Amino acid sequence: MSRIAYVNGNYGAHNQAAIHIEDRGFQFADGVYEVWAVRDGVLQDHALHMKRLLRSLGELDMPMRLTERALDVILNEVVRRNRVQEGMVYLQITRGVAPRDHAWDTAIQPSIVVTAKSVDPAIGHKKAESGVEIRTTADIRWRRCDIKSVSLLPNVLAKQQAREQGAYEAWFVDEEGFVTEGSSTNAWIVTKERVLITRALSSDILGGVTRLTLLGIAEQHQLKFEERSFTITEAQNAAEAFISAATTLAMPVVAIDGIQIGDGRPGTVTTSLRQAYLDHGTMRTD
Ligand code: PDD
Repeated sequence: MSRIAYVNGNYGAHNQAAIHIEDRGFQFADGVYEVWAVRDGVLQDHALHMKRLLRSLGELDMPMRLTERALDVILNEVVRRNRVQEGMVYLQITRGVAPRDHAWDTAIQPSIVVTAKSVDPAIGHKKAESGVEIRTTADIRWRRCDIKSVSLLPNVLAKQQAREQGAYEAWFVDEEGFVTEGSSTNAWIVTKERVLITRALSSDILGGVTRLTLLGIAEQHQLKFEERSFTITEAQNAAEAFISAATTLAMPVVAIDGIQIGDGRPGTVTTSLRQAYLDHGTMRTD
């Protein structure tokens, strides 16, 4: 079956889908995006992703020309046409097409692209059984990391560097030596007292939907948590560490910069949070 993509009102062959060369997303990375996990054909944490999308658009003064309802229909239609039961949906909205100029004409129409793909959940579950390694790197990003912008150059460079060093993810470290987040995930540790720690929300990190859902789950399970910064050394000495994102869920971290975490195996708190998320995830939250 060939894949279908949505581009500006049309559903067409994914491998033929195209955007104009003067799209501001292409020339200036002037756009935002969202990624939803799809489980049992349902977009996970849908309302929270939609809320963040609207916030990102607002922060960049990008008008939303579609109603939320219309966008919901498109997202679900792309899932349906691609027959995705387990996988992900990607939505990108850019400021639109205009002759190249840094400033923009407020009348231009945004470009909207939606793609979806199937992903075998067994791949992630298998990775979670052994855990992943992290490499740290200086956080050289701009000061509005709370906006889910497609401007991801420092993120892709960091991820690539981590992969070339044999790790799965990179953790950014700020000028004071505190971990901000991963290149495409939020960063967490679990102390020896079984307290979950993740950085507090600010413009230094993306407010992860999975992060928020996991904090809710922790609360339900009477697990203590603190939203505060931690250093690499604190993380390396923690009982457990993990990363979170729509695509990875809670994924155990077993080494940071070559230093083993705990006994070098996925921790029990992380593993049970991952399972609890999966149990929660089959329910619609909207
Ligand atoms: N990344 N931090 C960054 C920098 C991210 O790019 C992401 C998500 C997250 C986790 O957010 P959420 O839990 O809402 O997925 C944190 C997506 C998956 C991506 O870029 O593909």
